Parts: sequence; structure tokens; C-alpha cells
Amino acid sequence: MSENETLISAANQARENAHAPYSNFRVGAALRATSGRIFGGCNVENATYGLTVCAERVAIFKAISEGERGFDAIAVVTDTDILTPPCGACRQLIWEFCGDVPVILANLKGKTETIRMKDLFPKPFDSSNL
Ligand code: THU
Repeated sequence: MSENETLISAANQARENAHAPYSNFRVGAALRATSGRIFGGCNVENATYGLTVCAERVAIFKAISEGERGFDAIAVVTDTDILTPPCGACRQLIWEFCGDVPVILANLKGKTETIRMKDLFPKPFDSSNL
């Protein structure tokens, strides 16, 4: 298995744990740290709707809270024909912790596309603006 396939497979596995009873839109993400460790995340919804956390941010917070710094890539998996890019809030967080990494989008049928963060998030607000 290639590194990308391994990351997609981890995102797929994380997606199995999605708590998405309100949208029924199940998302899995996986983040590869420069240490080699992979952190999975799924979307976790809430009856208030607004407190929902996306799969990407769950993966990032897991990794950061485990002491990881520095990441090589993130994968996002959904069961849709049109691949799912990270939402705006997640782009901000991915930029903060991962910078210009490849974002690997995939679905359950094996379709994949890789987009770099610089292209998904061309004019970021970050620490360089402070
Ligand atoms: N969602 C994610 O987890 N990641 C994305 O990139 C897009 C949206 C979740 C949030 C919510 O639980 C559901 O998908 C529908 O928006």
C-alpha cells in the first residue's frame, strides 16, 4: 500500500465511527504526522447542531493534544460522487498546524484527488499577519 492509500484507509476506518445522526453525512479524516504516526478523526454532531465538530478538526486536535507538531498530509473520505473538500473553518485549522500540505480527497468507490492547501486556501490569515 502507498502512503496515500494507507492514509485514505485510516480516514475510512475513522469514518466508521462518525456520529452523524442529524445530517447522515459521515466523514472520516486522517492526518499523517512527520513522526510517522497517523491520527484519525470523524465528524461528531450534536443536537444543538452548532456544536458539531468536523472530522478534520477532530484528527488535528487528537494529534496536537498527543504532542505532535509537523504534519505531511491529510486525507478526507466521504461516500459521495463529488469529493468533499474541508470546510472553511477546517481550512483555517489545517493551515495553522499543517501549512501547505497535500489534502487527499477520496470516496468509497476509490475516486481520489489531491489538492494542496495553498490552492484550497490561497489568502490565509495566520501568525504572519499579527
Ligand atoms: N463535515 C466534516 O466533518 N468535514 C467536512 O469537511 C465537511 C463537513 C461534517 C460536519 C457535519 O457533521 C456534516 O459533515 C454535514 O455538514
